[in-house]
Amino acid sequence: MSGGGEVRWKPAAPGQPALELGAVRAWLFTDLHLGAQAPQEITSFAAALGQAPADLQALVVMGDLFDAFVGPEQWEEPAFQPLCAALSGLSGRGVRVILLRGNRDVLLEPADGARAGAEVADSVLLSTAGGRVLVTHGDQFCLRDRPYQRLRHWLRRRWLRALGRALPYSWRLALARRLRGVSRQAVARKPLDVLALVEPAVVEALEGHGAAAAVIGHLHIAEERLLAGGRRLRILPAWEPGRPALALTPAAQSLESPGFMSAAGPSQRTPVVTLDGLAGSGKSTLARRLAQRLGWAYLDSGAWYRALTWVVLARGADAAAENEVLDTLSRIELHCHADGRVIVDGRPLQAELRTARVDAAVVEVADHPRVRAALDERMRRLRSHAGVTGVVADGRDAGTVIFPDADLKVFVEASREERARRRAAQQRAAGLPVQEQAVLAALAERDARDASRGASAPRLSPGGRQLDNSKLSEEEAVERLLTWVAPLLHPPDAGARAADPTGGRAGPSH
Ligand code: DC
Repeated sequence: MSGGGEVRWKPAAPGQPALELGAVRAWLFTDLHLGAQAPQEITSFAAALGQAPADLQALVVMGDLFDAFVGPEQWEEPAFQPLCAALSGLSGRGVRVILLRGNRDVLLEPADGARAGAEVADSVLLSTAGGRVLVTHGDQFCLRDRPYQRLRHWLRRRWLRALGRALPYSWRLALARRLRGVSRQAVARKPLDVLALVEPAVVEALEGHGAAAAVIGHLHIAEERLLAGGRRLRILPAWEPGRPALALTPAAQSLESPGFMSAAGPSQRTPVVTLDGLAGSGKSTLARRLAQRLGWAYLDSGAWYRALTWVVLARGADAAAENEVLDTLSRIELHCHADGRVIVDGRPLQAELRTARVDAAVVEVADHPRVRAALDERMRRLRSHAGVTGVVADGRDAGTVIFPDADLKVFVEASREERARRRAAQQRAAGLPVQEQAVLAALAERDARDASRGASAPRLSPGGRQLDNSKLSEEEAVERLLTWVAPLLHPPDAGARAADPTGGRAGPSH
C-alpha cells in the first residue's frame, strides 16, 4: 500500500552478522510466544520437538520463542522445564539448536542459551542447492514503524540490557507485562501499512549476505513473495499446537522446488468478506459494523477512490486524464487504519473526502481502468498486513474484481425508494436541505452510471449471497452476516489464550 515509498533505512541485516550453518537438514519454527500462563503449549511444543527425525542437524527458532524473555531465571520456572529438556535433548544428540532473537526475546544473551544447549543469534544462513537462505525474525524490515525501530535500537544497547538485568526478576516480569499492554495499544493505533515489511530492505539484506532467499516470521502471516532480482521471501506463520516446522533439507532446498516455496495453503490465508451493492444500500455501515464485531480490518474501497481524488484535486492534476491520475497515485503513500480511515502521505483524511468537489471528480477518477487496476493492487495488500486477521471490504466490485477469491461475497440490496429515504434522512441529520425527489433522481443517475461500468459494475458474484437490506434493522442485518461468516472462523482456542481474542498472536508486538 505504499506508493513512492519514501522510507529510509540503515542497512539492517548486512551489518548484522549471521551464523553460517552450511548445508544442513533443518527445522524452522517461529513466533511461539510461550509463556508460563499457557503451560500446555510449552508441553505441546516440547512434544513436537520430540518428533524430530533422527537425521535432523539444526533446529532454528526464528524469534519470539518466549512471550517475553526477561532473564535466565525464566528457564528455571516449572512451566519451562519440558522446553528446556526438549531443547537440551536435541543438542545432546548433536543437533545445533539456535534461538534467534525476536522482538519478544530481544533480551536473550548468548549465555542464556547454554541452559538449553542452544546458541543465540540474530540471523542464520543455510546453504542450499538453489543458493543461500537467510533466516531471521524479520522485525528489522518493518522500517515504516519508526517508534518501534527506535525502541529496537535502544533495547540492543549493551548498557541498557545490563541495567535491565540488574532489576529483580519479579520487576522484570511486571515490566514485560506492562510493555506488552502498551505495545498492544500502540499497534491498534498504527496504520496497517506501518507494520508492513519494506521489501527493498529485505532485498538489501539478501544482497549483503549473498543470499537468494529469506525466511522470516514476525508478521504472523503465511506468504511467499517474489522480490526484486528474482529473490524470494517466505513468511512463516506463528506456531500453534499442531503446526509442523518448515523442514529444509539441502537436497530439497532448491529454491525453485515446490517444497521450499509451497504456500501454507489456502486455509491459512487471511479471510476476506466482501459487501458490494448499489449506492445507498447500507453496505458501508454494515461492513464497518461487521469488521468491528469480528475484530477484522475494514477496507472502505470508496474512501480510497475519494482519497486519490482529493490528492488529484489538491495537486491541480486533471481527474479526467488517466495518466495524470496514475502519476499522482505513483507518488503518494496511501494506506488505511483497521477502522477504514484512509491516510495519504501520513495525513488521515475524513471530512475532506466528502466535499462536493470530491463527489463530482471521484466519478471521473473511478472511470479509468488503469487507475482501478493500480488501486485494486494496493488495496489487496491489506490482506497480508501484520496484525490483520481478516478483512471486510465494501464497494462496487470488492467481490467481483478486488477480491475475486474472497471467502464470502455478499451483495447488499435495497429498493431505490428505501435507499433514497435513507440518504435523505442522513442529509437531514447533517442539517442539509433535502428534496426527496432530487435524491431519488440522483440515485437513479448514479445507478445508471454504476451499471455502465462493465466488469466493475455492482452485481452479485457467482457463488455470492444476497442480503435484502430494505426491511432489516442494522442490528438484524449484522447478525445475519455474522451467521454467514461463522463457518469461516476457527473455533476459539481453549485454555489460557481464550481470554485474549487474538490468541496473543494477532500480529507483531510493535
Ligand atoms: O462508496 P462511495 O460513494 O464512497 O464511492 C466513491 C466513488 O468511488 C463512487 O463514485 C464509486 C467509486 N467506487 C468504485 O468505482 N469502486 C469501488 N470499489 C468503490 C467505489
